[in-house]
Amino acid sequence: MPAHPAALPAVAGPTRLRLPDLLQIADQEADGVLSGRYDHLLPAGGIPSNGRWFTRLYSNDELDVWLISWAPGETTELHDHSGSLGAMTLLSGALHEFRWAGNELLRRRLTEGDQAAFPLGWVHDVTWAPSRVGPSHTPTLSVHAYSPPLTAMSYYEVTEKDTLRRVRTELTDTPEGK
Ligand SMILES: [Fe+2]
Repeated sequence: MPAHPAALPAVAGPTRLRLPDLLQIADQEADGVLSGRYDHLLPAGGIPSNGRWFTRLYSNDELDVWLISWAPGETTELHDHSGSLGAMTLLSGALHEFRWAGNELLRRRLTEGDQAAFPLGWVHDVTWAPSRVGPSHTPTLSVHAYSPPLTAMSYYEVTEKDTLRRVRTELTDTPEGK
């Protein structure tokens, strides 16, 4: 065993991008949505007011970025992002995030302009939440960046012993749950 941690070889992570990079990218792409850069990717009739809708804004070997609409009642189930790091910026509306904190789920409310980062191992459920400003039943819009691009997610349930049980893993190339 090396005498000093500095003697350990560097461990290569799954991506050269760090969470601060992904937060910045999510913010930049959110600005892109607001400025109309992605209008050509939006549905002709506007973003649906119910049901799940998302579109990929950008993708390369190390990154993919999505615009997601969360309609009232939408949830993701408790999930991770497999080997991907993630970050998001809320464009409008509100979300509740329920994050597994080791022995309980912690809730936080995210509103327009808020950001959140998802390190490796982050397990959460994300749900639409009513906005306290403007119409209360409009979809929430958020931009998500993942690196490496999302390829799989595992789903979990909290047991009666307040532990986490992984119930299934799905290959996916679409973001944030069901
Ligand atoms: Fe997620």
